[in-house]
Amino acid sequence: MALAPPSPIDTARLQVRQVSEDHLPALLGINGDPEVTKFLPYPTWNSLTDGQAWFKRMQLIQESGAALQFVVIDKQTDQAVGTCLLFRHDEGSARAELGYVVARACWGRGYMHEALGALVACAFTTMGLRRLEAEVDPRNAASGRLLQRLGFVREGLLRERWVDKGEAHDVEAYGLLKREWTGSAEVAGR
Ligand SMILES: CC(C)(COP(=O)(O)OP(=O)(O)OC[C@H]1O[C@@H](n2cnc3c(N)ncnc32)[C@H](O)[C@@H]1OP(=O)(O)O)[C@@H](O)C(=O)NCCC(=O)NCCS
Repeated sequence: MALAPPSPIDTARLQVRQVSEDHLPALLGINGDPEVTKFLPYPTWNSLTDGQAWFKRMQLIQESGAALQFVVIDKQTDQAVGTCLLFRHDEGSARAELGYVVARACWGRGYMHEALGALVACAFTTMGLRRLEAEVDPRNAASGRLLQRLGFVREGLLRERWVDKGEAHDVEAYGLLKREWTGSAEVAGR
């Protein structure tokens, strides 16, 4: 069975909802920044055409049931300030991988902790997943710290797992089990 898209998820400052083509100009501002994509396994976007190609690829993957791509909206400005996704969904094992990005101007405000806290809660309850995974470049200290604060455990180092921007990179493997997840108080109304 495919990952079922949830209703928009509200937190104190943010809304996490499914991405649409209207968000692409804002997402170009985020993924067009080489500092943002520095530790990510995809090239920096150069134009809206890159964004449109990404959107088409994501739609196909979503239709296959293996992923859900979300946008993170700042409710005060109604602007997209980031994205997060669940992908590599394995139905038999009820697991999926997490990916996430925040606009550089918004780093360090706890936005992704708030957004992922809500998405993880939804994944472990509404979506019925039992394990979440993430892969992080060991140089990406902010991402590792973010995952650890959410309760993820560093499970090991996968050697030369990614080839990115012409080089092979090790990645740290993180995992969080539903049975060890302590929940999030940051979802509005929970
Ligand atoms: C990783 C990323 C999503 C974090 O988003 P964010 O909204 O700034 O994250 P938060 O503010 O919720 O939390 C970041 C944590 O890392 C810490 N941190 C930030 N920079 C750090 C650094 N250089 N070294 C160590 N810790 C750092 C912050 O202090 C915070 O920890 P705290 O809550 O204990 O204070 C953001 O930096 C980003 O988009 N990076 C580029 C894309 C990316 O790398 N995505 C992840 C791919 S695995």
